Amino acid sequence: MPFRLLFIGDVVGEVGCAAVRALVPTLRRELELDAVIVNAENSASSGRGITPDSGSALLSVADFLTLGNHSFDAEGGREYLGYEQRVIRPANFAEKLPGRGWGTFEVGEVRVGVANLQGRVFMRETPGSPFKAADEAVTELEGSEADLILVDMHAEATSEKQAMGYYLQGRVQALLGTHTHVPTADARILSGGTVYVTDVGMTGSMSGIIGLDKEDFMDLFLGRKPSRIGVSEGPAALNAVLIEVDVEGRRATGIERVYEEPI
Ligand SMILES: [Fe+2]
Ligand SMILES: [Fe+2]
Repeated sequence: MPFRLLFIGDVVGEVGCAAVRALVPTLRRELELDAVIVNAENSASSGRGITPDSGSALLSVADFLTLGNHSFDAEGGREYLGYEQRVIRPANFAEKLPGRGWGTFEVGEVRVGVANLQGRVFMRETPGSPFKAADEAVTELEGSEADLILVDMHAEATSEKQAMGYYLQGRVQALLGTHTHVPTADARILSGGTVYVTDVGMTGSMSGIIGLDKEDFMDLFLGRKPSRIGVSEGPAALNAVLIEVDVEGRRATGIERVYEEPI
């Protein structure tokens, strides 16, 4: 039996967290899931960062969380990363920052390794090389006897994510892109049994712009300078990918998109 893992893209605000909590228990049954991993970088009620509340809401139904450029944007996030072992932030962040860039969790006999990377192209922040960090993360996860390795590459540029896919093919079982909040239609299996998609898409309100308030964004683009860009209210859709891994053979054997209508 292949190992079946659902990876859910950037969860935005309370509406996104509510959708994950409502949908994941059913998806676990219907899709016969062994594990669920969620990108939580926008899960705080502000839509930026993670808080102890948003993290524990997601971990009530998920096994493990990844983050991105907004990792430390919400109050309580830094402390949370200090004590919650089931959440990681990009491995190429400065070493002195709280949290870790990779980690493992166990489902029965299977130890799942997860790493998080952030891209540098078109990003405001300039972390260290994600490629160097990827090498280190993979070596460390192999050393901790991970049976399969999934990497969340949180990046803006499709080229940088595709490059990372080829860089890690055959060394990890999944390279999944996040950050743009819009799913891409290129899910495929690279050589060596690595599943790849440029962006998983977000889990949040479909009435806004990338899950945030569209009027605030209009103000920004039309030069009216909004005081803040809030979370878009309204029902949230869920975007995810379901991946299958032959654990014995250390190869991913399938990837398919999962979309749940707004609830
Ligand atoms: Fe995001
Ligand atoms: Fe992001």
